[in-house]
Amino acid sequence: MSLALWAVYPYLCMTLFFVVPFIRLRKRPFEFTTRATTMFNRRLLGAASLLFHWGIILLLVGHAIGIVGGVLGLGSWVHAFFWIGVVGGFMALSGSILAVVRRLAVPELRALSQHDDYGVHILLIAILSVALYQSVIQLIWGAAFNAGLWLASLFRFQPEPELMAGAPLYTQIHVFLAFTFLAYFPFTKLVHAWTLPVNYLVRPYQSMRTARRKFQRRFELALRTDTSVLTYSIVTVVALLLAVGLLLPTPGRPRGMAQAGTATSATTVVDLPGYALFLGSCARCHGVKGDGQVISKASPVFAVPPRNLTQGHFRFVSTTNGVASDTDLQHTVQHGLPAGGMPGFPFLSDDQVASLVQVIDHLWVDRPAPGPEIQAGPVPQFTSALVSRGSELFATNCSVCHGPSGAGDGPAAANMPVRPADLAAGKVKAGTDPTQLYYRVAAGIPGDAGAEMPSFAFLPEPDIWSVVAYLKEDVLP
Ligand code: HEC
Ligand code: HEC
Repeated sequence: MSLALWAVYPYLCMTLFFVVPFIRLRKRPFEFTTRATTMFNRRLLGAASLLFHWGIILLLVGHAIGIVGGVLGLGSWVHAFFWIGVVGGFMALSGSILAVVRRLAVPELRALSQHDDYGVHILLIAILSVALYQSVIQLIWGAAFNAGLWLASLFRFQPEPELMAGAPLYTQIHVFLAFTFLAYFPFTKLVHAWTLPVNYLVRPYQSMRTARRKFQRRFELALRTDTSVLTYSIVTVVALLLAVGLLLPTPGRPRGMAQAGTATSATTVVDLPGYALFLGSCARCHGVKGDGQVISKASPVFAVPPRNLTQGHFRFVSTTNGVASDTDLQHTVQHGLPAGGMPGFPFLSDDQVASLVQVIDHLWVDRPAPGPEIQAGPVPQFTSALVSRGSELFATNCSVCHGPSGAGDGPAAANMPVRPADLAAGKVKAGTDPTQLYYRVAAGIPGDAGAEMPSFAFLPEPDIWSVVAYLKEDVLP
């Protein structure tokens, strides 16, 4: 699915985008036009057209900055894209809406309109609204890291669909619609954009000449014909895209190579082979340096701010000394902490996950040695005797924080900076797999003073399993 969406569909759309204009110019040259409507309601047209065109130009520049910044791992560029995008987005959106209003309001114009006059605007309004919703309401800033690196992988002809598969849903919708728009573009009057008046820059003053003297000036490069303008424009755009894919150095990835699998003797984190994937998948929340300093940390989509990975303090662990092991970090990356706002990355290969764990290890300043893994043994049968033993243990050990029914409302909960999980509502971040629940009880959840859950390693193994059995059978939904 993600392969079709993020590795096949984009190429299909881009092919249509670049090839159809040529076919169209050849078959129906005189339809390569905007069909002027300037004689109707000029005032509204002026406002709509100015807002729309300047908005689109700002957006094109902004996207270029954002994509290049995303590929190079430059937070400030991605940041600049945000502001340019918001301003350009609102301009283009209002221009687009005004244009539709004008089209509907003026009867002559309504009669002249064709399907694509509306289709283009409806699609654009959808694309712009999704992006503006994500930026202004959800306050998600760094999605250009996902999209930039993914686009570069397309232009390099080594698509990495996993980067888009791990992007926020609204980014995915925005990008999918944008590619649909690219495919639709050459079939509409928008195709006129390809006939950019580049020849105005080089052509001599208009004069009636004979064909014999048509290309008398060499530097005109035969730019005079529509086909050559189209060719030069498209070749320029394609060359720019290839340059983004093939020439820009991506941190952590040797130029032009898809995935370096093995570890290198990297001195800084950006040299690690997994760093490119970290940029593309994690940087929008944890920051390019992993320190959690991202503007979107104030976003309402996070229950807690994304963790500062340089400090460690990892909480969902399976070791006797409470220090996260590589296996724990791997589990977090694969499954995410959905109730906390971190998505899982189940579609990454084991090598990719391992390369990310290597990045976290490198970011983590003075990482202590993780203790041995807690031995949970095989999951027992959850018999009713085991469940009722678990229910007693829960009442004596857990309900002070988690409440008698597990709703996170025990007497001690009120004073805690991190609310004990509402287990009855299934708010379990690191998953309800029995072995994971065993680890949570046996290892506790280390955290800042007052926020942690103590370890219950003093309970014998069958007792811990009984608590897990009780959680699974009677508490969790
Ligand atoms: C959508 C934002 C988001 C993305 C993307 C994201 N994280 Fe997180 N991450 C979070 C949040 C929020 C938390 C804190 C969750 C909590 O404690 O409830 C977190 C916590 C973590 C933790 C701490 C786990 C623990 O045991 O305490 C690690 C490690 C981590 N993230 C690594 C990654 C890696 C690696 C990636 C990229 C593959 C990534 N994250 C992508 C938001 C994100
Ligand atoms: C001192 C208070 C305290 C006690 C006692 C306590 N917990 Fe917790 N528990 C917490 C807090 C706080 C969290 C939330 C941690 C977070 O979301 O970062 C939590 C979270 C959990 C989670 C969810 C883990 C996840 O992946 O999100 C489980 C399961 C859990 N506790 C089970 C238990 C069980 C079983 C007991 C008794 C054996 C127990 N707790 C005792 C404070 C406590």
